[in-house]
Amino acid sequence: MKQKLIFTNLVGQALDDLVADLGAPQVVIVADTNTAQFVLPILVNDSKAAAGARIITMKSGDANKNLDELTSLWRQLAAMEATRSTLVVNLGGGVVSDLGGFAAATYKRGMKCVNIPTTVLAAVDASVGGKTGINFNGLKNQLGTFSEPEAAIISTIFFNTLPQQQVLSGYAEMLKHGLLEDEATLGKLLAYSPVYPIFDSASLLPLIEASVGVKARIVEADLTETGLRKALNLGHTIGHALESFSYTRKSPIAHGYAVAWGLVTELVLSHLQLGFPSEELHRFAEYVLHNYGAYEITCDDYPALIAAMRQDKKNTVADQINFTLLEAVGKPKIDCTASPEQIGAALDIYRDLMHLA
Ligand code: GLY
Repeated sequence: MKQKLIFTNLVGQALDDLVADLGAPQVVIVADTNTAQFVLPILVNDSKAAAGARIITMKSGDANKNLDELTSLWRQLAAMEATRSTLVVNLGGGVVSDLGGFAAATYKRGMKCVNIPTTVLAAVDASVGGKTGINFNGLKNQLGTFSEPEAAIISTIFFNTLPQQQVLSGYAEMLKHGLLEDEATLGKLLAYSPVYPIFDSASLLPLIEASVGVKARIVEADLTETGLRKALNLGHTIGHALESFSYTRKSPIAHGYAVAWGLVTELVLSHLQLGFPSEELHRFAEYVLHNYGAYEITCDDYPALIAAMRQDKKNTVADQINFTLLEAVGKPKIDCTASPEQIGAALDIYRDLMHLA
């Protein structure tokens, strides 16, 4: 993987060192309305490069990861007379790095960029691995590129003030990485509580480093997702369906929560299809129930959920729903399928495990 991963809580110093190494004559920081207000002042205080940078502020939120905001970014880069050697620094969550990364990948056929994630989710997922893009035509991430940034500077200094829900949302992707890696990595994650007041951001840094390591090794082997990278979709076929379904109920759930419940249900499918051990499934389900609670569904909701799974862009064969499942912790199997009956049976067991049935 070309991308350098820097784990430090001295973010300003790390940015200054990078700018010097890359010899960037101009730095442009892309922030959103939240990070511009709350995070940028900290960085400006700690970094000469940030203090001298031009700033582009985009609207926050996934609804703004669109063509209008992208056009606005391109226009502002042009107005600043940015060149290919200008360094773009994405300061924010996944929306900022997806959009800023896409603008950087396409403006003048590509500029260098660095991600400084400010959420747990962005630290362990979006800031690493080079996926950039925007939502289009009502569908998520329909336009984009695989363009690795020069580096990600990953710290926990911005996490202390994150709402509980955002911490747990990011932690679900870490649980996914633990399931894909091995018993030891998963065991450490299940022994940790990312819940206030026990949660303190400093103690999370080694777990984040291990988690990013899992993703980095997978991306290294398969940047453009022709094979192994599909393993990172674990929990996401059902997770995305729950997320979309929650929008139709007009009561949206956070992405990571949907992933946590999706992981439980896909471990059930893994148990039914591939013999994933039942005791591991129960241990994982208990952790999710304890920390994330349960997402209430009834069997009347199954047709809508299965219809949402059919829309998943990971499906490549018409009428087949694609899953990544696990034979055991650390043993993913990509390109699995399941019938509506098997998915219904897995959802029944999810409801049992979550004490909903
Ligand atoms: N978020 C999954 C991936 O980067 O492939």
